[in-house]
Amino acid sequence: MLMSRQPSKKTSGAAEAAGAAEAAEAAGAAEAAEATGAAEAAGAAGAAGTGHPAPTAPTARVAHIGIAVRDLDEALRLYHETLGLPLHGRESVESDGVNVAFLPVGDTELELLEAMDTESPVARFIEKRGEGIHHIALEVDDVAETLKMLRERGYRLIDEEPRIGAGGVRVAFVHPRSTSGVLIELCEKGGDGRP
Ligand code: CO
Repeated sequence: MLMSRQPSKKTSGAAEAAGAAEAAEAAGAAEAAEATGAAEAAGAAGAAGTGHPAPTAPTARVAHIGIAVRDLDEALRLYHETLGLPLHGRESVESDGVNVAFLPVGDTELELLEAMDTESPVARFIEKRGEGIHHIALEVDDVAETLKMLRERGYRLIDEEPRIGAGGVRVAFVHPRSTSGVLIELCEKGGDGRP
């Protein structure tokens, strides 16, 4: 169920810094821009000047790109054995019904996803759309804070609360219907055991 909440007094974000900014946040940054002048509003709205408060958990990097494959071993023959990407780890994530393999590429990784059974979301994805890019994982400082921010702005979430994903990392997924068709996974920074 999607409902946009009325802005309420809250404690997160750059707006907390100034007393006036809190009022501005409650009223909406756009209104604040008219009411208080561009300079002050820019302070409340963050450096980007987008009319929104600065994000509480800015993205540091693409944590990984998830690729749905029918056969993990076959995919590893390409990415690992042929293209030479190192194999960072392989594991089964029961909660998601997938066997995964991580292959570092530069500052990010490929996450190959193979369905454990036909009920797995990855099996349904492949059935519907074929193999291919399944999700993009963005690293954030705090998954819970980022979920809160997305919820307050009316984005549809798959996970209402952070949960433990592959590698023991705190993760949460955002529904592709509210993200221009991209399944976004939020991954908490520093939890993926990267070397
Ligand atoms: Co992932």
